Amino acid sequence: MKLLVLGANGQVGWELQRALAPLGEVHAWDRTAGDLSQPEALAAAVRTLAPAVIVNAAAYTAVDKAEGEAALAHTVNAEAPARLANEARALGAPLLHYSTDYVFDGSGSTPRDEDAPAGPLSVYGRTKLAGEDAIRASGCRHLIFRTSWVYAARGGNFAKTMLRLAAEREQLRVVNDQWGAPTGAELLADATAHALRTLLAQPTLGGTYHLCAAGATNWADYARFVVDTARAQGRTLACQSVDGIPTSAYPTPAQRPLNSRLDCRRFEQAFGLRLPAWEMGVQRLLAEIN
Ligand SMILES: NC(=O)c1ccc[n+]([C@@H]2O[C@H](COP(=O)([O-])OP(=O)(O)OC[C@H]3O[C@@H](n4cnc5c(N)ncnc54)[C@H](OP(=O)(O)O)[C@@H]3O)[C@@H](O)[C@H]2O)c1
Repeated sequence: MKLLVLGANGQVGWELQRALAPLGEVHAWDRTAGDLSQPEALAAAVRTLAPAVIVNAAAYTAVDKAEGEAALAHTVNAEAPARLANEARALGAPLLHYSTDYVFDGSGSTPRDEDAPAGPLSVYGRTKLAGEDAIRASGCRHLIFRTSWVYAARGGNFAKTMLRLAAEREQLRVVNDQWGAPTGAELLADATAHALRTLLAQPTLGGTYHLCAAGATNWADYARFVVDTARAQGRTLACQSVDGIPTSAYPTPAQRPLNSRLDCRRFEQAFGLRLPAWEMGVQRLLAEIN
């Protein structure tokens, strides 16, 4: 079975190459092999390869930069997934796609399920939602996994940035009113492999699912956890304190949701998997890059 992975050099794409390998012949495309900013050429290349499964881990993920590059973000996050969905339908191949907590407006303080109304606050969120909508409307067999706060040993992410800054600075000021669950790319990839097997065995399965680590934290507590854990693992860090600040004190081009908590029960029921508490994966990440 041929499996196509797009975005193969991203945090999730890299882990997918490993996690999907036992399922078949993985074709791992980076942007030179499959450029999502050229949806037509991409569609033609997919048609030629004719994979049995398409996994799209590529996305325009620079949330702040997207505010100034809305057209490109839309092409990569919405148009290209729409074209992939059409090719998937024509090939009879399921499409697995990732989306984000940023499709929501972040109001309230309880976890959202998949039926909660979307209300993106940023270009990134709007383009990711448009990609989801196009896939759902295409009629292709699909799985859309909305996840949050992704990190991995490979690639840039919040945990690694905090580790670097904590080595340089005595004090860190970090936003403490945005809540969500840091989720490891390797867990996402492993859960994807399992879900794909289940999908291939159950012809009626498909749809949109929330998939993130259990529990919730805010960025400041997450940063403290990174500093404390890294120190306990033997790292020498300059950081003496992580001070929480409100989002209003840290303006960014893109507005972010305050409440990114996702209710993952639908995924758990459909696939019989529950991702562990977020702390477990972050501890492992820190040990891995130590
Ligand atoms: N990161 C998060 O916190 C987060 C949170 C929620 C949901 N998600 C979603 O999870 C999925 C995976 O995210 P991630 O964290 O693995 O992202 P990532 O590390 O930023 O990787 C994204 C990948 O997409 C590729 N890409 C960007 N533009 C492209 C283009 N025009 N053509 C082909 N490839 C292109 C990048 O290629 P280069 O390596 O060449 O730049 C990169 O390899 C995405 O759908 C994202 O929206 C991420």
